[in-house]
Amino acid sequence: MPQQTQMLSILDLLEMKRVGEKISCLTAYDASFSSLIDLAGIDVMLVGDSLGMVVQGKTTTVPVSIEDMVYHTKCVTNARRRAFVIADLPFLSYFSSENALINAAELMQKGGAQMVKLEGAHTVIIDALVNFGVPVCGHLGLLPQSINQLGEYKVQGKKSRDAEKIANDAKRIEQAGASLLVLECIPAELAKKISQELTIPVIGIGAGLECDGQVLVLYDMLGISIGKRPKFSKNFMASSIGISDAISQFQRAVKQLDFPAAEHSYN
Ligand code: KIV
Repeated sequence: MPQQTQMLSILDLLEMKRVGEKISCLTAYDASFSSLIDLAGIDVMLVGDSLGMVVQGKTTTVPVSIEDMVYHTKCVTNARRRAFVIADLPFLSYFSSENALINAAELMQKGGAQMVKLEGAHTVIIDALVNFGVPVCGHLGLLPQSINQLGEYKVQGKKSRDAEKIANDAKRIEQAGASLLVLECIPAELAKKISQELTIPVIGIGAGLECDGQVLVLYDMLGISIGKRPKFSKNFMASSIGISDAISQFQRAVKQLDFPAAEHSYN
């Protein structure tokens, strides 16, 4: 009889943190890439609102709508067999608990996501979502939805006061009931400290080697994004024979602690 592929759950990700196995994660936006990523054994697919930039050609993630997110999440989950799927709540889709619950329902019921991600330490919103059975992934460090406040995409938490705030916010997010946390573009030492302090898995992007897992924007790691690739990313296509091979190389590099290297990290 053919072996049934078991879909990963949050318990599998928690167990990976407990035993020290790194969690691999890539963004995905459509069925064909979803299938390739899944077949390569990547643990988590994130339907990121980065789709606004890499798929829709916008300059920021701000214009992405909940309808866009539901559409792309559905495309990804249609082809997924094993990977755990997280979908982003887009800009201003979680300004109140009610608003967040309505939009999380869209992503989970129509899109098929297993978890939603939101940017910032909005603990009241996280608590409300969790109380209604919505698993939440937090996101701290560089918050792309706040680009119009930040003015530029750059490393966060370099000053000790800012680092302290990020570390405290991470604890508050865990206490509010989040099951996962993404740390984007912060010094490796800070990400290491947060990963050690939290019991929930911490997935890094530009946050050094010592997070519990690594995520990259798919189009960056395939070298097909418009514009300059961020320092923390790596073009895995450069040394591969094709897309599936590049994704498998990323998978191996994360599991074997070969990625990210020092050149992809911040001090
Ligand atoms: O939207 C996205 O792709 C993300 C990653 C950068 C973590 O949130």
